Amino acid sequence: MKGIILSGGRGTRLSPLTKITSKQLLPIYNRPMIYYPLNTLLRAGIKEILIIVAPERAGDYLNILGSGKEFGAKFTYEIQDKPEGLPQAFTIGESFLCGDSVTLILGDNIFEYDFTEDIRSFRSGGRVFAKEVKDPERFGVVEFSAAMKVLSIEEKPKIPKSHYAIPGLYIYDHRVVQFSKELKPSARGELEIVDLHRKYLERGELDVRMVAGEWVDAGTFDALLYANNLAKEKLAKNLLF
Ligand code: DAU
Repeated sequence: MKGIILSGGRGTRLSPLTKITSKQLLPIYNRPMIYYPLNTLLRAGIKEILIIVAPERAGDYLNILGSGKEFGAKFTYEIQDKPEGLPQAFTIGESFLCGDSVTLILGDNIFEYDFTEDIRSFRSGGRVFAKEVKDPERFGVVEFSAAMKVLSIEEKPKIPKSHYAIPGLYIYDHRVVQFSKELKPSARGELEIVDLHRKYLERGELDVRMVAGEWVDAGTFDALLYANNLAKEKLAKNLLF
């Protein structure tokens, strides 16, 4: 199992803070934001990690994270020239993955939950997660039947069919590279991660598990503030470094 942290994008929603550096390097209490998703992968035993960054910020990442030795890991870097969608992580990462399974985490997603068992027990197919939230329209949304079978998956629906958001950590087998190549851009001009989930769902190979504990997508000012307080109260003490 290899890991990818997708940490590109323009960060326009957090401007002018993102004139200083990449969103995912902004402070969360006493660490750069990316330490949290990095910690999520490392604590689950993933040591080979590809970090995908925007061209303008690549130097900042190299300065802060380096080779990975300090973290007991090996980091590889790739540039995403334009933020054309989350599934590009897998096509950009094709040679790094070299036919292995992968856990992708978004560089602005902060979890309290420990994914070790979910990652170690993964064999094949796709495994994504669900978390009950108050504002599902901001996220990918999964709808379940009474027997917890997945009925639908939608990206940022205006009228969500459930309150279950799909957080930004995804586990897929090697087919994800080929499936990503087959995707077409959505109406908003991006490749959509939910279309990848659907590729596995259509084949009856998508497994959806619940995430316990706190989860923050730190992509707005309010979420950033919330994440800072959460880190101070709870999360910072669980970091490995
Ligand atoms: O946080 C979980 C949500 O992440 C999921 O529920 C959604 O299904 C998924 O589409 C995504 O929604 P966001 O609105 O958070 O996506 P956003 O475009 O903001 O991108 C998420 C992060 O990934 C962001 O920190 C920037 C980075 N990114 C994004 C794109 C589109 C890249 O590095 N490259 C890209 O091409």
